Amino acid sequence: MSKKIVILTGAGISAESGIPTFRDSGGLWENEPVQLVATPEGFESDPERVINFYNKRREALKNAEPNAAHHALVQLEEKFGDDFLLITQNVDDLHQRAGNKRVIAMHGELLKVRCLGSQEHVFHCTEDQPEKCPECGAKMRPHIVWFGEIPFEMDRIQKALAKCDLFAYIGTSGAVYPAAGFRQLAKLSGAHVVCLNLEEISGGYTDEFIKGKASEVVPKWVEEV
Ligand code: APR
Repeated sequence: MSKKIVILTGAGISAESGIPTFRDSGGLWENEPVQLVATPEGFESDPERVINFYNKRREALKNAEPNAAHHALVQLEEKFGDDFLLITQNVDDLHQRAGNKRVIAMHGELLKVRCLGSQEHVFHCTEDQPEKCPECGAKMRPHIVWFGEIPFEMDRIQKALAKCDLFAYIGTSGAVYPAAGFRQLAKLSGAHVVCLNLEEISGGYTDEFIKGKASEVVPKWVEEV
């Protein structure tokens, strides 16, 4: 039987591509109150502020390129094929741009916007968010999962975690559920759990901690898998 691998990534994997993390010093949540820009209530009370926040992040993404850690995960996918799944909390497109195909963007995608009138009206968007839906004229919002909303593809994620032999979480502080609980689900399913991060993450359910910058430790680790 072949080995099944699930990877979970967070903001730390894109830090060396120039995209700020959320909770490190100088991170996004230091400068923008989460409640105002990343909740449905914040959007309801001041949509312009929220839309501007994501427009700016979308603009900044144009200057970012995938780094060695993103590229290494493409090699891992090439090696394991359908036994590989990459779950990312990141809304940047760096995994997809690097070439990963089996990716679940559980917190949404910065380069997509959607209509408030129909869940089916989701559009690719590389510039400022359009004011109205090109299909039906309704208001639009970023295609981002905010606090209090259910992440995408949870069924598929849970099934993959229940079946995996190896689970690695990379560049994530483990502060936000449900992603923070994935290592526990993987561990309870019998997987070997590895953390690759600048700092050790408390809370257990981790067999191995590899400390270092993602661009350095991920390629080395991938070679050994
Ligand atoms: N290499 C490896 N790890 C790094 C690097 C790096 N170069 N730089 C920072 N880190 C680590 C930090 O030490 C920290 O543990 O990455 C982690 C980043 O944590 P957060 O900023 O909390 O980001 P993340 O875990 O992805 O946040 C989860 O919170 O607000 C939400 O929706 C947002 O998806 C996000 C979620």
